[in-house]
Amino acid sequence: MCGIVGYTGPRQAYPVIIKGLKRLEYRGYDSSGVALWRNHKIDLYKKKGKVADLEEIMIGKDVSSNLGIGHTRWATHGEPSDRNAHPHLSASGRFAMIHNGIIENYAQIKNELVKKGYNFLSDTDTEVLLNFVEDIQKNNNCSLEEALRIALKRVSGAYCILLIDSEDPETIIAARKGSPLVIGIGKGEHFLASDASPFIEYTKEVVYVNDYELAIVKPDELILKNLGNEKITPYVQKLDMELAAIEKGGYDHFMLKEIFEQPSTIYDCLRGRLDAAAGMIRMSGISENIDKLINAPRIIIIACGTSWHAGLVAEYIIEELCRIPVEVEYASEFRYRNPIVHPGDVIIAISQSGETADTLVALEKAKENGAFIFGVVNAVGSSIARISHAGAYTHAGPEIGVASTKAFTGQLAVLMMMALKIAQEKNTISKERYQMLLNELADVPEKVDAILKNATLIKDIAETYKDAKDFLFLGRGYSFPVALEGALKLKEISYIHAEGYPAAEMKHGPIALVDAKLPVVFIATSDSYHEKIVSNMQEIKARKGRIISIITDGDSVTPTLSNHHFTIPPANELIAPILNVIPLQLLAYYIGVLRGVDVDKPRNLAKSVTVE
Ligand code: M6R
Repeated sequence: MCGIVGYTGPRQAYPVIIKGLKRLEYRGYDSSGVALWRNHKIDLYKKKGKVADLEEIMIGKDVSSNLGIGHTRWATHGEPSDRNAHPHLSASGRFAMIHNGIIENYAQIKNELVKKGYNFLSDTDTEVLLNFVEDIQKNNNCSLEEALRIALKRVSGAYCILLIDSEDPETIIAARKGSPLVIGIGKGEHFLASDASPFIEYTKEVVYVNDYELAIVKPDELILKNLGNEKITPYVQKLDMELAAIEKGGYDHFMLKEIFEQPSTIYDCLRGRLDAAAGMIRMSGISENIDKLINAPRIIIIACGTSWHAGLVAEYIIEELCRIPVEVEYASEFRYRNPIVHPGDVIIAISQSGETADTLVALEKAKENGAFIFGVVNAVGSSIARISHAGAYTHAGPEIGVASTKAFTGQLAVLMMMALKIAQEKNTISKERYQMLLNELADVPEKVDAILKNATLIKDIAETYKDAKDFLFLGRGYSFPVALEGALKLKEISYIHAEGYPAAEMKHGPIALVDAKLPVVFIATSDSYHEKIVSNMQEIKARKGRIISIITDGDSVTPTLSNHHFTIPPANELIAPILNVIPLQLLAYYIGVLRGVDVDKPRNLAKSVTVE
């Protein structure tokens, strides 16, 4: 979703901002723009399309400036266009604003402003907020900071705002509620952005701004305040992120790089936690809260998209190993219904970005009802990580490709360790089974590596099926959520319609779709459901469907039923989802590329969904 960048300091602001906006492209956007302070006025440049299109209109312009703000916009109010792109200028031209989020009561405020004679040049809620701020500033003859504070008390919705003033050559005023904002602290300079990637090469010292906080940022001064105008001491943290982590490193796409990183990201996730030789799992977030976890009457998992699929796998594993009832909820549904949450209930929040608005609000709601929140989050310092009572990071590193890959396998690894640890403490697992699963988990990075060595086989399969109109993905048990994930990946980055289904449920409806043109992907590795899924394959074969199967190395029967098959190293069925998803990620990737889709930034999608 929208990305924001701001700079104040001795450097030229424009190149810092443009490079920063490119780093934020992964979030998804449809237009971009920049505002630069120059000679007591604000120069505004904006363009529909990519940041590269913005750069083109800037050729030959004098962009020298030490203060600026830039934005990538993911359209909510008003179509993607030059005039709706941010930044916006206030009616007098004095102030410029960029905004990530949605002002829900903008229509009402706009009516009031229209009655006062304001005209609007765009369809955006942002321009309404900006003119509202200007109106307050003029009527009260107060500072911009004060005007913003008054305005924010009236607005409902979510925002991260950056504001500059043509009468102030060095200050950026920022505010946040519900949309992320991180400030990089340099020597005599400050950087502001939606995440730290735009300024990682300049500084590793950061302050994460919290909801309802306002920042007044000058080159050598950072003042944080709450909306009550009380100063807050900024909490400076050190970033553990290198530039290489946000670059492609020789791969054609971030998605491919992230798929191939999985042996090391899973290893990093297990490192320091899983000690198979000693038969131990060390997770401080679990140990420190073990009573709450083993006595939980139930666990509710809240997530969206791919993270929700990881939650479904976790449901099966936790119920199997820990014997605690688990419910898996779409955050967007949970937040709007009237769910029953009791004190003592444990909520596991799963999120790669840690900023997904639906998940965040759902958690706030559960927290108000007394639930204990355990976050399984990838982005360090993100909102969901901070709202959680305890948690475990997935340590997959920055995930830039819109389609989540390494974050998913990281989530599965963390959730598996959590289940094992809780089961051991709760005494619901035998010593032998515990040790066997620990050993199996420790072997995962090597097995993922072995799968990736055969990636070209998947490329060949992709070539065969790239023109299909529809796909069906079928799995049973632990492989059912993997089928859902395979279908989601394909939809997102190839634009082919795909459905994931429990294989046995297929005969209750989707089987009507099967004909000689329909590719059906079976996740059919050796597990306790194997015979059953082989019967389901027979049913598809009998109807001339084209079968692609993901099977266990050594299985000689299933290939005879399949048009194509891909083998996975043998693994316990609880561990297998981490392995089985890899060929499905590759299949989606190669089909997407063969169909000419921009797989890292597929249409309409945003990496971090910060609006509801
Ligand atoms: O950052 P989160 O894990 O909270 O994001 C949830 C979904 O938006 C995300 O998984 C989405 O479905 C991905 N595009 C899937 O590839």
